[in-house]
Amino acid sequence: SDEDEQTQGYLFKIVLIGDSAVGKSNLLARFARDEFYRNSKSTIGVEFQTQKMELDGKEVKAQIWDTAGQERFKAVTSAYYRGAVGALVVYDISRRQTFDSIGRWLNELHTHSDMNVVTILVGNKTDLKDAREVSTDEGKALAEAHGLFFMETSALDNSNVKAAFETVVKEIY
Ligand code: GTP
Ligand code: MG
Repeated sequence: SDEDEQTQGYLFKIVLIGDSAVGKSNLLARFARDEFYRNSKSTIGVEFQTQKMELDGKEVKAQIWDTAGQERFKAVTSAYYRGAVGALVVYDISRRQTFDSIGRWLNELHTHSDMNVVTILVGNKTDLKDAREVSTDEGKALAEAHGLFFMETSALDNSNVKAAFETVVKEIY
């Protein structure tokens, strides 16, 4: 069962959180299937995808959970976070409001999961250079203040997507 695999240490549950439309589902689509959707709809409920990865020559599996950032679609209960060992907390570098929400997402994460869940702060949509509202330094500083890893990504042009997921899995592993 998944639970057995988890206790044996080769299936890692990772959750994606952050405001609506920051690109959580597209980060997962890019990572798992190398796909991108220009007009993706808000996620309804919870979806997950199991992705095989190779670390130090060994195969590990990451089970990545994705849900709606939008309050009215939010199916988040403790079940979403249960057993999570990693988290990507995502904002959109072109919308400051999504960066301002990070504290709230971190609170939620820590309310529902283990304090040691390996967490990376992800500033997505770096391709939107002209629309940037949150600087790289601000992202870094927030991550440092909370003891998180940090990376900026673009699901659109596939920049740092794999690296962001791998950072979390490597640290868990
Ligand atoms: P919810 O499911 O509502 O929580 O949203 P989400 O965080 O899953 O966002 P989603 O992946 O659905 O992306 C929202 C919109 O942003 C879509 O129109 C995507 O095409 C777009 N998008 C996602 N990632 C990027 C990116 O890296 N760059 C750009 N320019 N657009 C992106
Ligand atoms: Mg989504």
